[in-house]
Amino acid sequence: MGLRNTLLFIATFGLATSALQLPSPAFLFANPEPQHATGFKIPTIHESAVQARRILHLETIGTLSTIFPTAHSTENRPSDVSGTPIGLMDYFGDCEPGSGNPTILAISIATSFKNVAAGSNITLSLRWHAPYNRPYSAAAVPRFSLIGHLEELSAEEVREQNVAACFVKYHPDAVSWLPGNRIHESKWVRLVVEEVYWIGGFGDRAYIGWIPLNEWQNVTAEEIKDCKLPGEKTGWASWIPHFGFGQGQVQEAIEL
Ligand SMILES: *[C@@H]1O[C@H](CO)[C@@H](O)[C@H](O)[C@H]1NC(C)=O
Ligand SMILES: *[C@@H]1O[C@H](CO)[C@@H](O)[C@H](O)[C@H]1NC(C)=O
Repeated sequence: MGLRNTLLFIATFGLATSALQLPSPAFLFANPEPQHATGFKIPTIHESAVQARRILHLETIGTLSTIFPTAHSTENRPSDVSGTPIGLMDYFGDCEPGSGNPTILAISIATSFKNVAAGSNITLSLRWHAPYNRPYSAAAVPRFSLIGHLEELSAEEVREQNVAACFVKYHPDAVSWLPGNRIHESKWVRLVVEEVYWIGGFGDRAYIGWIPLNEWQNVTAEEIKDCKLPGEKTGWASWIPHFGFGQGQVQEAIEL
């Protein structure tokens, strides 16, 4: 893209964006005060908790964040990462749906679980991949973080709750590293949720903030089943074009 085209792109894209009905910049990443009428009904904290629990049920992959230990060790890693967080992709399953604590298959040699073994707490961050998100805006879609610690499941819990079958339904490939496999030491753990931080989308139409633990825990299976997430079905506009500008025009601007 030459300079002229780049400038043209910026001008066109800027025009297209300003002509779209995005929220006021002040409310992109924060909720307005209640007295600001915006025309959108912001879901309550409880409705947000139900959405979050449905996302936990439908999604399968998230990011585990842990902190490298400060203590010296024989680990082969740069010394200056001590105390620094690292986020790594991992699998989870909603295999204890009564509690809202996600189930994870912890591989002993993986960094996230080595950091936990060295004393780190852990956060699972996940986001809703809305199949019908038009025009596409990832920033308009819910995402959240579950902050807590890991706890090993007992052999009885694994057996009685059919944890392996549940997890393999979410992750058929994980059958190769289930506990007892011959290559990697692994074990079943639950992330015991202690705090929930939620960003439901743009702040003028979605709740952004902490969800109290009891709200997270007391969501019922019925509520999770009945909840419909933004963009789960057709006909959801994540942001609403007007003045004739739609995804097509923005796309053209990007392709100049
Ligand atoms: C882990 O979280 C708990 C609160 O749930 C806190 O008391 C503790 O200090 C944290 N541990 C570390 C290593 O940060
Ligand atoms: C969940 O807890 C909240 C806050 O205590 C309460 O308002 C709500 O009625 C509870 N819901 C259920 C289904 O128990």
